[in-house]
Amino acid sequence: MNPNLIRRKRILRAQAFLIHSAALFPAILLLADGLLGNLSVNPIQQAVQRTGRIAISLLVATLTVRPLAQIGRWQALLAQRRTLGLYTFGYALLHAILFLVVDYRLALSLILREFIEKPYLWFGVGAFAILLPLAITSFRYWMRKLGKNWKRLHRLLYLAAIFAVLHYGWAVKGDFLTLRGEVLRPWLYALSVAFLLAWRLWTTLLQRRQKLRRSAS
Ligand code: HEM
Repeated sequence: MNPNLIRRKRILRAQAFLIHSAALFPAILLLADGLLGNLSVNPIQQAVQRTGRIAISLLVATLTVRPLAQIGRWQALLAQRRTLGLYTFGYALLHAILFLVVDYRLALSLILREFIEKPYLWFGVGAFAILLPLAITSFRYWMRKLGKNWKRLHRLLYLAAIFAVLHYGWAVKGDFLTLRGEVLRPWLYALSVAFLLAWRLWTTLLQRRQKLRRSAS
């Protein structure tokens, strides 16, 4: 077999191993803390918060793959985007199940009251409503079936990230806008998403310009 192909396969396998380990570790830690009774006086609330934070971290990690691949010329890294995206969806689903099923036992009137009293929940639902079709269509079959629309659809991940940041910033105790309270972490996510979005727009603009120049010459 071609030595370059063997090397590429090894790199892909090592990357996949690292990504699966890093993404599964917080779930194992959460399970261990739950079983050992280390989840504070309100274990369900802590589990909801922790899964939410893991989901948003993985969402930002998924968006970071593209600039990393471009800056470091690590094209092989792009193959790991789907794995990270699916883990993001998995933790977001667990987060929603813990809140809606485990905490509120699907009591619709109570859940509705929460949604009226805590409008930040709508942003969580908005982010989740985007992550769901992206997870379903992340497979090759859908890539082929949707053609150019696949890329358009998957650009919505940036919108999901904006919704998730608003959901986070509004959920924590404090004031996201006047910088009072526990807002440092949500702000770090907000700045990361803003940077990643700006990077995406800038590089897309540059690529389009290069294409135009090439077709003109
Ligand atoms: C159906 C969708 C969702 C529901 C019902 C939901 C529900 C909640 C609730 C109830 C909280 C507050 C927990 C508390 O402090 O007591 C919360 C916080 C949070 N959620 Fe969600 N969420 C949803 C989707 C998402 C998604 C898609 C993400 C990220 C990708 C996310 C990330 C977070 C984060 C980061 C927090 C703050 C955790 C903290 O306080 O440290 N949520 N969510």
